[in-house]
Amino acid sequence: MKKAFVKSYGCQMNAYDAGRMSDLLASQGYAATESVEEADVVVLNTCHIREKAADKVYSELGRLRVLKTARAEAGLDTRIVVAGCVAQAEGKEILARAPSVDVVVGPQNYHRLPDLLTRSASTRVVDTEFPVEDKFDHLPIRRTAAVSSFLTVQEGCDKFCAFCVVPYTRGAEVSRSVEAILDEARKLVRGGARELTLIGQNVNAYHGAGADGVPVTLPALMRALESIPGLLRLRYTTSHPNDMADDLVRAHGEIAALMPYLHLPVQSGSTRVLQAMNRKHTGDEYRRLIERVRRVRPDIALSSDFIVGFPGETDVEFDETMRLVAEIGFASAYSFKYSPRPGTPAAEREDAVPEAVKSERLAALQALLDDQRHAFNASAVGHVVEVLVEKAGRHPGQVAGKTPHLLPVQFDAPAATIGTVVPVRVVRAGSNSLFGEAVTDEAAAA
Ligand code: SAH
Ligand code: SF4
Ligand code: F3S
Repeated sequence: MKKAFVKSYGCQMNAYDAGRMSDLLASQGYAATESVEEADVVVLNTCHIREKAADKVYSELGRLRVLKTARAEAGLDTRIVVAGCVAQAEGKEILARAPSVDVVVGPQNYHRLPDLLTRSASTRVVDTEFPVEDKFDHLPIRRTAAVSSFLTVQEGCDKFCAFCVVPYTRGAEVSRSVEAILDEARKLVRGGARELTLIGQNVNAYHGAGADGVPVTLPALMRALESIPGLLRLRYTTSHPNDMADDLVRAHGEIAALMPYLHLPVQSGSTRVLQAMNRKHTGDEYRRLIERVRRVRPDIALSSDFIVGFPGETDVEFDETMRLVAEIGFASAYSFKYSPRPGTPAAEREDAVPEAVKSERLAALQALLDDQRHAFNASAVGHVVEVLVEKAGRHPGQVAGKTPHLLPVQFDAPAATIGTVVPVRVVRAGSNSLFGEAVTDEAAAA
C-alpha cells in the first residue's frame, strides 16, 4: 500500500486542512504514516505568517531532497507537495528554490490533489488560482473524528491589518452555509467528536447562508449545532474585536454548550500602535468589550495574541501593552516579535524597532503572561471541574482531557471514559497540565 506523510505548520485552519488532505489521500489508497522515510507522498502544509515559519519550509525541503535521492537510488518514487500559505504566497518561486518539489498547491485548491499528483508524473505543477468551485464540495466524507475536532466554518480575511499576510494567502472572507456545516458536524459526531471548535481566520464575522438562503450570524449557527445529539461542547476561534457583535457577546451567557473561553487577539495596548496596525479599534474599546463579555459570563477565560516591536513602537507604547495585560488578566496568550512580511504595508516602513529591543519587550511581556497563566492554572486547584476526556493519558491507567477553560487535565480513569464528561477534583497544577482525581458518586456525597 502507498503511504502519505502530511505535516502541518501554523494555525488551526492549516491543521484542519491537513486533516482533510489526509482523508483525501486515504480515499486514493494512501495509508497515513508518521515516518517520512517510508512515504511515497510527502505533504508540507506551510505557514507564511512570520519569516521564521516560512524559512522552516526551505530547511525541511533541503532534508527532503536528500531523502528523495536516497529513495530514488533504492528504486522508490517520492512526490513532494508544498501546500498551504507559503505555496499561495510564493507559487512557482518554490519550484525554482527547491528542486525536489513536485506539486505546489494553495489552500483553496487542495481538493485537486489527486489530479495534481497524477499530472506531476510528467511535469512539476503549480495550482494557486482561486478556484470557482468550493473545495468543500469535493472532499471525501470523514469517518472517524477526534473527541475534540476542528470544523472550518469561515475562511479568508478582509481586514488587512498592516502586518499580516493572511488576506493575501487566504483571500477574501467566505462563510460556508449552515447546511454544509451541520452536515459535516453530524458526520464528525457520528465519527466520535463530542466537542467542535468552529474555526476561521475571522470566525466571528461568520455570515453563512441559513436554510432560507438568508445569511445568519455565528450565534445562530451555534444554536443550530447545539441541537445535534451527542455534541457536548462548542468553541470558536479566532475572532477580531470589531466583529464581537452584541448577539455574540450575549451568546456567551445563553448557549449552554458554548464553553467559557474566548480567544480575542488585541495585538497591542497602545491606541497609536493599533491605529498604525490598521486594527480599527482603541485600547479602551477593547477593555470595554472585555467588560461586556465578563458581565455576561464572569468566569470566562480570556486569551489573546500580541505583537511587540511593530515599526515605530516606543517604550511608552509598549508599556501600554503591559498595562492592558496587567489590567485584563489572561488565562493564556500568544506573543510574537513583529516580523516584516513581503507585500504587507508595514514591511515598507523605515522605522523598524531594533531586534534587541524586540527581544527585551517580548521577554518582559511573556514573563507577565506566564505569571498570569500560572495563577489561572493554580486557581483551579481544589475545585471540581468538568473534564471532557479526549484520549489515553501519559501513563497506563490515565486519561487526558480538557476543562471548560481549555486546561489540559490528567487523571486515573478507564479508557471507556473517552468521549464523556467526568467531574474531576484538581489536586495539582503542573506547568502544562493539571492533575486530578475523578469524583465518584460516593466521594461527591461525602
Ligand atoms: N485572524 C487572526 C490572526 C491570524 S495570525 C486574528 O486576526 O486574530 C495569528 C497571529 O499572528 C496574529 O494575531 C498576530 O498576533 C500574529 N502575527 C500576524 N502577522 C504577524 C507578523 N507579521 N509578525 C508577527 N506576528 C504576526
Ligand atoms: Fe491578519 Fe488582521 Fe485578518 Fe487577523 S484580522 S487574519 S491579523 S489581517
Ligand atoms: Fe499561517 Fe496561513 Fe494560518 S499564514 S497562521 S497557516 S492562515
